[in-house]
Amino acid sequence: MINRIDETRKSFDEDLLRVNDHASLEELRIKYLGRKGLVSQLFESLKDVSKEDKRVVGQALNQLKIHTQSRFDEVRDSLKNKDDISESIEDLSLSGRTHTIGSRHILTQTLDEIKNIFKGLGFSVYEGPELESDYNNFEALNFAEDHPARDMQDTFFVTDKFLLRTHTSPVQVRLMTDKKPPLRAIMPGKVFRNEAISAKSYCLFHQVEGLYVDTDVTFAELKGTLVAFAKQFYGQDVKYRFRASFFPFTEPSAEMDVWWQPKGKEGRWLEVLGCGMVDPNVLINVGIDPEKYTGYAFGMGVERTAMLKYGIGDIRILFDNDKRFLTQF
Ligand code: PHE
Repeated sequence: MINRIDETRKSFDEDLLRVNDHASLEELRIKYLGRKGLVSQLFESLKDVSKEDKRVVGQALNQLKIHTQSRFDEVRDSLKNKDDISESIEDLSLSGRTHTIGSRHILTQTLDEIKNIFKGLGFSVYEGPELESDYNNFEALNFAEDHPARDMQDTFFVTDKFLLRTHTSPVQVRLMTDKKPPLRAIMPGKVFRNEAISAKSYCLFHQVEGLYVDTDVTFAELKGTLVAFAKQFYGQDVKYRFRASFFPFTEPSAEMDVWWQPKGKEGRWLEVLGCGMVDPNVLINVGIDPEKYTGYAFGMGVERTAMLKYGIGDIRILFDNDKRFLTQF
């Protein structure tokens, strides 16, 4: 009887090695572990074993049962795992999924480029708050009491005395009040205007202000700096012009235009920035002696600049967060 048990165990182990799918596993189960299988048959024969031998044979039989059952379970589980994998991945030769890598917003890229060019020209970066006093935004900048820019239509007033800044020029006032000349800085930031939203204007946009105050600063230096900027930003062959203009806080004042040439369409001049020599009244307001110091200032719109450089026709798309647009940059 012990011999039969040993042989059954051996042949089970050999048969098990040949199992490679569910069908052959099932055959094995029926042959050994089924109700009429070899292991059950051996248990049947136990009744014929003599009383003295029953204990030893019984133990050997139990071990055989445990052995066959546990080896069977192992193989069944490993077959099942294989199935799970081949079910979840239909084609193992398919290439993996690629991850899309994000990028900085085109406005951030443009702003960084502007900052880097001016840093190279010796300007540092200074920032001021978006919520401003009426004094810094208008009064200190020499806006007359009845200047149209103070009209409720252009400005988001928060209280009588505070507003969302309509330009970055109040940061000039802060810089000149906080620090003594020589001063040379650019001041980037968001500005807000209560305007009808269209392809050309939005209630929120970005500006970069520039200021240089020292002894003997001239208009020629202002022009030289802005031309150097335009050549680096738009390309050496950029076509530009300066036009006389007016701002309350600069005298004389000018605007710089850049020639815009869309492919296959008629080109035209586009205004890219306002500039001028800091008005002596502004210097007096911030406690700088206009007899000793002069300065120039300029301010440009970042959206306008990016639209011109990358041929974007509608300002609103810059604020839409549409991935089809953003991933192009
Ligand atoms: N602050 C002006 C504007 O928003 C631009 C400007 C800045 C003009 C500095 C002259 C000097 O239109």
